[in-house]
Amino acid sequence: MTQPAAVVVLAAGEGTRMKSRTPKVLHEIGGRSLLGHALHAARALEPARLAVVVRHERDAVAAHATALDDGVTIVDQDEIPGTGRAVQCALTALDAAVRGAALVHAAPGSAPGGEVAALHGPVVVMAGDTPLLDAGTLAELLRAHTEDGNAVTVLTTTVTEPHGYGRILREGGAVVGVVEERDATTEQRQIREINTSTYVFDAAVLRDALGSVDQDNDQGEVYLTDVVALAHRQGLGVRAISVDDSWLVEGVNDRVQLAALGAELNRRTLEQWMRDGVTVVDPGTAWVDVEVELARDVTLLPGTQLHGRTRVGEGATIGPDTTLRDVVVGAGATVVRTHGSDAELEAGSTTGPFAYLRPGAHLGEQGKIGTFVEVKNASIGAGAKVPHLTYVGDADIGEGTNIGASSVFVNYDGVAKHRTRIGAHARTGSDNMFVAPVTVGDGAYTGAGTTIREDVPPGALAVSGGPQRNIDGWVLRRRPGSAAAEAAARALGGDATNLDATNPDATGQPDSDSGAPATAAANPGAAALSAQARAERARAVPESRTPRDHQVPGATGEKDSDR
Ligand code: UD1
Ligand code: CA
Repeated sequence: MTQPAAVVVLAAGEGTRMKSRTPKVLHEIGGRSLLGHALHAARALEPARLAVVVRHERDAVAAHATALDDGVTIVDQDEIPGTGRAVQCALTALDAAVRGAALVHAAPGSAPGGEVAALHGPVVVMAGDTPLLDAGTLAELLRAHTEDGNAVTVLTTTVTEPHGYGRILREGGAVVGVVEERDATTEQRQIREINTSTYVFDAAVLRDALGSVDQDNDQGEVYLTDVVALAHRQGLGVRAISVDDSWLVEGVNDRVQLAALGAELNRRTLEQWMRDGVTVVDPGTAWVDVEVELARDVTLLPGTQLHGRTRVGEGATIGPDTTLRDVVVGAGATVVRTHGSDAELEAGSTTGPFAYLRPGAHLGEQGKIGTFVEVKNASIGAGAKVPHLTYVGDADIGEGTNIGASSVFVNYDGVAKHRTRIGAHARTGSDNMFVAPVTVGDGAYTGAGTTIREDVPPGALAVSGGPQRNIDGWVLRRRPGSAAAEAAARALGGDATNLDATNPDATGQPDSDSGAPATAAANPGAAALSAQARAERARAVPESRTPRDHQVPGATGEKDSDR
């Protein structure tokens, strides 16, 4: 394949019809900016030089281009408008770069040759807003150009609705020029073969022609399209190559076209994956970015969006209703109704439904992240499970461990984040709080409702919190007449009325939880407690921890809503 001397990507235009703060060429489809698509196709031609012409939102576009491809030459277009001027600025910059390189490479002491070094050979020019234009089409154009020894080769297509495009003028089949819509006669506007803004020029012809292009047109711009007519008049080889697939050369001017091209790109991406052995149950609701990689026998269920550099291994099933960005999914894994980014789910693991994977989430082979589980900056070992209603942040969980439902890895003390380490084959109870930094050893257990503030040695059982205390008859005294009190009364039988009548509490005097004798007398369950046990229970809950609920709201002037 002939390598072009340069590819020039035009990206200086304003893109007014996008009505956006973001420069047009930075808008994305398929997870890549419009400019990114252009640079990707351009780079595939392996040009000696790759230039991007910028002006509108110059810094943002230049920074983006350089970030995508650090080999690009950023060219600033001056205040003279038009595609022709843009290319002229690029040529000037490229000629200067070629001269600079020639000086550097000149043998020491040797005088510079008589001829001034400049860019020579084929120069590909393309617009930065034509995202479906692929390297294959560009290569075809370049091949035709060199094989036919053309001075100018323009890529065209024939459309049913040519409005707004430059029309290709032919005489006896030969291309003689391009006329813009606004400069065209009524007759010329009937022409349906349009200019795609993609060309190959011989560098010398281009330099020469642009030197004599004026701004004598409806827009007062320097039109690149005028080079076509000029070259023809000089008797140079001017040809057109036509593409049948108009999508490939359609430009984005507004957000309607952005969406249409985005959908078409996605349709093509999915079609390719299906041909490569991926099942896409509903191509209408699956969205896959161009850089995503899918192995064979992956199944994408409806409502699945795979973004960025997401990679999915053989036989894995994603969806329904799952959005993953930069997530690596291992072979045979399933990911159901999950939202995730920057995470890794190893082979055979299961995630969801309703999981939230945040950056740094890592699930080992055959592991499980279950329902309403959020994981951030944490690794869950092979075969380990976090099945229900849990937040795992800044943690390492060993293999084969099970985390009980409704637990929180309390990683933040308001100032800094801390890490929790849980060993292998541990079993933590439901509703545990792991107050980091803390370590739970291999094979340890924790009881339900435990707040782990101190390290748990391997094999130990950790429990926390005081013994439970029942204040008998409380509901009957404090919520008389309520459905709860009535239900309790029924359950307690005759004892309930007794209890209510005999308890001094019932008079509404300030309560003392430990003042249990009357309660004990009236309640067979309580009476069964030894005096010592009751005293212990009373001590276990200090007065200061008396539930506020214990006071009658109205009596203390508290609002119900405060509770
Ligand atoms: C251009 C062509 C038209 C073609 C159409 C295809 C000209 C005069 N017209 O028209 O024949 O049918 O593309 O989409 O070339 N740009 C610059 N600097 C400028 C102006 C534009 O770099 O001063 C860039 C834009 O950023 C864009 C490309 O050139 O990437 C095309 O510019 P645009 O204004 O969209 O040209 P059209 O009017 O669409
Ligand atoms: Ca355009």
